[in-house]
Amino acid sequence: MIKKGTDLEIKDIPIPEVGNDDVLVKIMYAGVNPLDNMIVREEVKLITPYKLPLVMGNEFSGVVEKVGSNVSEFKEGDRVYGRMPLDKIGAFAEFTSIDKNAIALIPDVLDFDEAACVPLTALTALQSYELMDVKKGQSIFISGGTGSLGAMAIPIAKSLGLHVITSGNPKNRQRVMDLGVDEFIDYKTQDYSQILSDIDLVLDTLGEKELEKEFKIMKNGGKLVSLKGLPNAEFAERMGLSFVKKMLFKFAGRKYDKLAKKNNQKYYFLFVEANGKQLESISDIRLETSIDEIFSLDDVNAALKKVASGGSKGKTLIKIN
Ligand SMILES: NC(=O)c1ccc[n+]([C@@H]2O[C@H](COP(=O)([O-])OP(=O)(O)OC[C@H]3O[C@@H](n4cnc5c(N)ncnc54)[C@H](OP(=O)(O)O)[C@@H]3O)[C@@H](O)[C@H]2O)c1
Repeated sequence: MIKKGTDLEIKDIPIPEVGNDDVLVKIMYAGVNPLDNMIVREEVKLITPYKLPLVMGNEFSGVVEKVGSNVSEFKEGDRVYGRMPLDKIGAFAEFTSIDKNAIALIPDVLDFDEAACVPLTALTALQSYELMDVKKGQSIFISGGTGSLGAMAIPIAKSLGLHVITSGNPKNRQRVMDLGVDEFIDYKTQDYSQILSDIDLVLDTLGEKELEKEFKIMKNGGKLVSLKGLPNAEFAERMGLSFVKKMLFKFAGRKYDKLAKKNNQKYYFLFVEANGKQLESISDIRLETSIDEIFSLDDVNAALKKVASGGSKGKTLIKIN
């Protein structure tokens, strides 16, 4: 649970009701993401207006406890994982009731802790690559690929036949090289904009401070998906947002749309959504999950602070059951 502007509070609440299309999941591990801190700081309220207090947590691994009357895809005892739907998060809890379309079976090769590293960042990569309409042989620059996003975005990009260049903290160089990265740029000592040019695609995790340079390294006609920049009119349209938000985001993202237009490039903003089918599609990809640190639910605030403090070696997890 959260209280506005303060640390999260742990409270006893009833086990959630299971709707006809829902699956009740006993949560084993929850992943902690920069997004959780952004929700606490109310930085995403224009995209998803959460009402407080709120059960926090955006992704999990767990075991099916019960299914709704319309659910034939899952049964009691199944190992499942997922990104919580935008309008109903709540993975920092012992149980969640979640729409059957938001979850997938965990591949046998993954333990519960490994599985909790996957959904949010794997879906972010898949949804970004779908937006970019990536083609085998294209080059992609993933900025800040040494954290939890890169751990999924890099192997998925390699599985799609892309040439992957990433920047990040040199302490994690070997780990990302082992994921298949073709070129690594140490952000502490090297300037990627002096090294790279004619890149087909950019997956941006750094936002405002780097976007101008990231457009410059792309070729004419290149496509950039930002996970940290400002939403634009295209995002509002794609998400089916209200007229007011369409106007607001058109104004907010116009700087990047203009930058993109100069060289016939395209700017997209992405806010990752739940998608069980898409998650299922990655079960054939060999994913080397990377766990940074595991906290207990009692230490949820320490986990959030750990994620906010940088130095990520992969996913921070909360062990729940
Ligand atoms: N919009 C969405 O749907 C969505 C989805 C997923 C993630 N995201 C965003 O994507 C970002 C990354 O997520 P994450 O989970 O991977 O975070 P993370 O685990 O904290 O990793 C961030 C990585 O970036 C590195 N870094 C920091 N500054 C850098 C710079 N100037 N150049 C290159 N690398 C740099 C960090 O290195 P240090 O160790 O030196 O700090 C760290 O290795 C976050 O901002 C998150 O909010 C957005």
